[in-house]
Amino acid sequence: MDAAKLPPPTTVTVTGAAGAIGYALVFRIASGQLLGPDVPVRLRLLEVPAALEAAAGTALELADCAFRLLADVDVTDDPNVAFDGAGVALLVGAKPRSAGMERGDLLEANGGIFGPQGRAINDCAADDVRVLVVGNPANTNALIAAAHAPDIPAQRFTALTRLDQNRAIAQVAEHLSVPVTAIDGITIWGNHSATQFPDLAHATVQVDGARRPALDLVDRAWYVDEFIPRVAKRGAEIIRVRGASSAASAANAALDHVFDWVHGTGGEWTSAAVVSDGSYGVPEGLISSFPVRSNGGDWEIVQGLDVDDFARQRIAASVAELEEERAAVGTLGLL
Ligand code: NAD
Ligand code: LMR
Repeated sequence: MDAAKLPPPTTVTVTGAAGAIGYALVFRIASGQLLGPDVPVRLRLLEVPAALEAAAGTALELADCAFRLLADVDVTDDPNVAFDGAGVALLVGAKPRSAGMERGDLLEANGGIFGPQGRAINDCAADDVRVLVVGNPANTNALIAAAHAPDIPAQRFTALTRLDQNRAIAQVAEHLSVPVTAIDGITIWGNHSATQFPDLAHATVQVDGARRPALDLVDRAWYVDEFIPRVAKRGAEIIRVRGASSAASAANAALDHVFDWVHGTGGEWTSAAVVSDGSYGVPEGLISSFPVRSNGGDWEIVQGLDVDDFARQRIAASVAELEEERAAVGTLGLL
């Protein structure tokens, strides 16, 4: 598009911008991969004081890319400045777990970050702000942020399970030796944790010109004993093999999540942790992963899917963990 015809910039706030995910994210945002090739962005990078210098260095590199869509970059440790006018807020800044920890072990260390940020989003962000929480434990951190933003519909606070969705697609594609584009209809239910349920019951695979149910193409034993735990524990596998928490794949999934939220998903569904309206027996108000479609403005939970006993039990186990996390942050005074 002719530069003179571009719309005004959208403010995108990235917290933890000097961290590993932040560094993998901001250059792709500035190149148009978050909001599209014709939407200029103003980046606001929020960091803790000790990491401001590193974030300022990232800002220098952003300038050196001469991105045509990058209108401005601000670096700050003040959430009210960082979220001022934000149309998209990516809450990444939080400690990653290390080997041997579960993501829920981070609740006490990270939970305290999200109340003040939710309050700042409430007070300073654009009216139509969309929030994606990446920092772990992502679902419950999103719940904390939403609880501190009473003026913003809770539906605008989401947490990232698109990485789990992408991992699940990749595992099925590899197992069946098909391209990732052949697979449709996978769902991640519940928490972004080892209790999540990557569900193939409604997934289909395009093989030899026909669309076939994924569960007709894989062994039950592979599904239950290999696929589900592999996807659910992939974060730990990455930490063990790479020696650090996933970063580029997490940034990539965050871009996918927001891009689909803003542009719409068409007929296909994906997975995102969104506030429950009670669908599929998930208690209202929890931020849990569901099959979702976007109409280009809001996520909508896909309705009417058959959920068999196996799936029901798996979903219930993950939802029970979310309820425990909600109770724990309540006890810590974070809600
Ligand atoms: P990192 O340690 O490399 O970077 C985190 C950054 O956050 C640091 O620069 C730190 O200074 C900053 N930070 C800490 N507190 C802050 C605050 N109050 N405000 C602003 N910035 C703050 O970690 P990382 O690898 O980038 O991971 C970040 C988080 O994302 C971790 O909690 C990790 O577990 C999580 N994660 C989630 C997913 C997912 O799919 N949901 C995937 C990967 C990682
Ligand atoms: C992941 O899924 O890779 C992240 O949530 C990091 C982690 O701790 O597993």
